Amino acid sequence: MTTTTTNRKATLTLDGKDYDLPVLHPTLGPDVVDIRKLYGEADIFTYDPGFTSTASCESTITYIDGDLGELLYRGYPIEQLADKSTHLEVCYLLLYGDLPTAGQLADFNARVTRHTMVHEQMHYFFRGFRRDSHPMATMVGVVGAMSAFYHDSLDINDPWQREVAAIRMIAKLPTIAAMAYKYSLGQPFVYPKNSLSYAGNFLHMCFAIPAEDYVVSPVLEKAMDRIMMLHADHEQNASTSTVRLAGSSGANPFACIAAGIACLWGPAHGGANQACLEMLKEIGSVDRIPEYIAKAKDKNSGFRLMGFGHRVYKNFDPRAKVMKESADEVLGLLGIEDNPILQVAKELERIALSDDYFVSKKLYPNVDFYSGIILEAMGFPTSMFTPIFAISRTVGWISQWKEMIGDKNQKIGRPRQLYIGPKRRDYVDVRHR
Ligand code: CMC
Repeated sequence: MTTTTTNRKATLTLDGKDYDLPVLHPTLGPDVVDIRKLYGEADIFTYDPGFTSTASCESTITYIDGDLGELLYRGYPIEQLADKSTHLEVCYLLLYGDLPTAGQLADFNARVTRHTMVHEQMHYFFRGFRRDSHPMATMVGVVGAMSAFYHDSLDINDPWQREVAAIRMIAKLPTIAAMAYKYSLGQPFVYPKNSLSYAGNFLHMCFAIPAEDYVVSPVLEKAMDRIMMLHADHEQNASTSTVRLAGSSGANPFACIAAGIACLWGPAHGGANQACLEMLKEIGSVDRIPEYIAKAKDKNSGFRLMGFGHRVYKNFDPRAKVMKESADEVLGLLGIEDNPILQVAKELERIALSDDYFVSKKLYPNVDFYSGIILEAMGFPTSMFTPIFAISRTVGWISQWKEMIGDKNQKIGRPRQLYIGPKRRDYVDVRHR
């Protein structure tokens, strides 16, 4: 698949001179003005903080239509995948571009499964962290350190090494996240159990203890698998762009994914699921919702309704719909449908969706609004929410990183700036300042 140049032309007139800019046509979505030659020809930059109007790359992986509330992985709608597929099948789809045959899927499963254990020396590495470290802090460190443990998959110019690094990260991220959790509890690490599914194995590594049997509940396993699928990729979001930017310099894949994890941690991105549940608990009861709605509307309060709003979705977040169904299923299974936090969440959603402020700004519940409720019901502390997001997004980051390495137009990422600092001035000796 390639971008086509259209007959449309954009013209920039500057000081009486016209500059014709080609207009590119994607398979889906709005046309894109190609400004690559603008600086060279017109000696002018464009200004776009937050890249709200700028495409940074060509991509074939994920497509979002924010107005329709549509999310496609390699063309397949997320609702269909959430209903019919599994996270590992989605991993294959994102990495290689098409749904696998039964044989390809079995082979992929076997390859991922073979890599679920981490180097034994890593156990000692974990011991260097304080027990009360946030698991995201531990994950940034440990995933970055993978480049010190797996020297045979660092050469980004070798397709085989790139492939091994990809499989290693998909396989080991759940193990590393579960180890970070166990370490924070002071419990022994639980080794992966390869007879279990990807999601089941993760639950087992988090909740099993040597002294007792732990049987993975199929409903929780399915809900975890769905959470993973729904978070698997989301085109050029902040952490994915971070991975691409880090990778654009030729950094090794483990370092790039560690950079993505660091970016994901922020409360405006992956940290929102933790922040959202903490907010719902702080609200505590339905009668306090108006107070928080008023705070969210007050620009001076600095408060935002966590789990609401999205840079791209301006109608609804299709992931939130699936997540809401899962929340009902999981809480039903556990017999806690009357959970007060869920009541607050449902009422908050109802009020916000009929409030002028939220309607006019097109602020809808996003994927994080319900995921925290499910994860808490499963028994995870809030500090594990973002690590679970990181496990799920790993395949997206790697797929985008691999795509970037193979892109003939790829250059080191190097944005320009609109400098508003002091003009040149001369150094003044300290005695005369
Ligand atoms: N609560 C109250 N007001 C909001 C919210 C919110 N959650 N989100 C946006 N607004 C207002 C904002 O104040 C601004 O108002 P005005 O136009 O009067 O200045 C307007 O809506 C547009 O906001 P923005 O910050 O320019 O929008 P953005 O596209 O840059 O930000 C966002 C998107 C997700 C960072 C933002 O909506 C937000 O901070 N939401 C809460 C955090 C959250 O739930 N993040 C998870 C995103 S989904 C998971 C992921 O992809 O990581």
